[in-house]
Amino acid sequence: MLLKEKTAIITGGGSGMGRAMARLFAAEGARVAVADINGEAAEKTAQEIGSRAMAIQVNITDDSQVRHMIEQALISFGHINILVNNAGVPMSFVPIEELEEDQWTRTLDVNAKSIYLTAKYVVPHMKKRGQGVIVNTASIAGIRARPGLHAYCASKGAAIMLTKALAIELAPYKIRVNAINPGPADTPMLSKFINGGQAQIEKDTKEVFVNSVPLGTLIHPGDIASAALYLCSDMARMVTGEVLNVDGGRGI
Ligand SMILES: NC(=O)c1ccc[n+]([C@@H]2O[C@H](COP(=O)([O-])OP(=O)(O)OC[C@H]3O[C@@H](n4cnc5c(N)ncnc54)[C@H](O)[C@@H]3O)[C@@H](O)[C@H]2O)c1
Repeated sequence: MLLKEKTAIITGGGSGMGRAMARLFAAEGARVAVADINGEAAEKTAQEIGSRAMAIQVNITDDSQVRHMIEQALISFGHINILVNNAGVPMSFVPIEELEEDQWTRTLDVNAKSIYLTAKYVVPHMKKRGQGVIVNTASIAGIRARPGLHAYCASKGAAIMLTKALAIELAPYKIRVNAINPGPADTPMLSKFINGGQAQIEKDTKEVFVNSVPLGTLIHPGDIASAALYLCSDMARMVTGEVLNVDGGRGI
């Protein structure tokens, strides 16, 4: 039981990696708030877990909704030990001159601004307790670019640097901040990086994504959950400002 007596908020907990994290954290003894813009999906994950979980519907780009998420978790749990900023949105290939400003803003808001917003409301609580762990799900795309994914790459690069900036600022308060860079992973998001129908998705999944991973397979959501578990547990008590690639070697 690596997270006995701990409490955690996991954003994007209704699907993919967030769902795997919520299940694993609960199995390791934590009480978990499964937060997602898709309230039904959050509810479903929470119900699968049972009494150790609660669902919160939240748009993590909205200041007042984020504040409410933190307040709800505090009311239910009494304290918050762990926050995982995992929710994110993908983008598929688009030439830079055709990228609409809306898409740029939305991608940066969900994937990067949300980390600032959640910190704004959870850090005062963590500072008061003199402890806390924040983990951000960034991406290998934050350090290795792909053509046509500019906004996504920029948002994840921002998430990585924000992780380090928060880690150095919050270390005196014993708040640790780390990031995980997943490589191409077998979740509902992967197909959304690909333009085209089912045949194109199957072709690119194999030829672009699987073939880009030296270890030869897509990353499993459970691989990311295991990395998050380590970073959130006391086993990583002296690890902060670190970015852990869980990418089958894609980032080498
Ligand atoms: N799947 C991959 O190949 C891959 C690779 C590298 C990094 N990532 C990153 O991993 C994280 C998890 O992705 P996943 O693959 O599990 O995707 P997913 O699509 O399965 O899950 C993402 C979840 O985030 C939620 N979400 C989206 N916008 C939100 C918002 N504004 N407010 C609250 N919730 C919101 C969605 O409803 C969804 O449940 C993301 O940050 C993603 O960018 C994914």
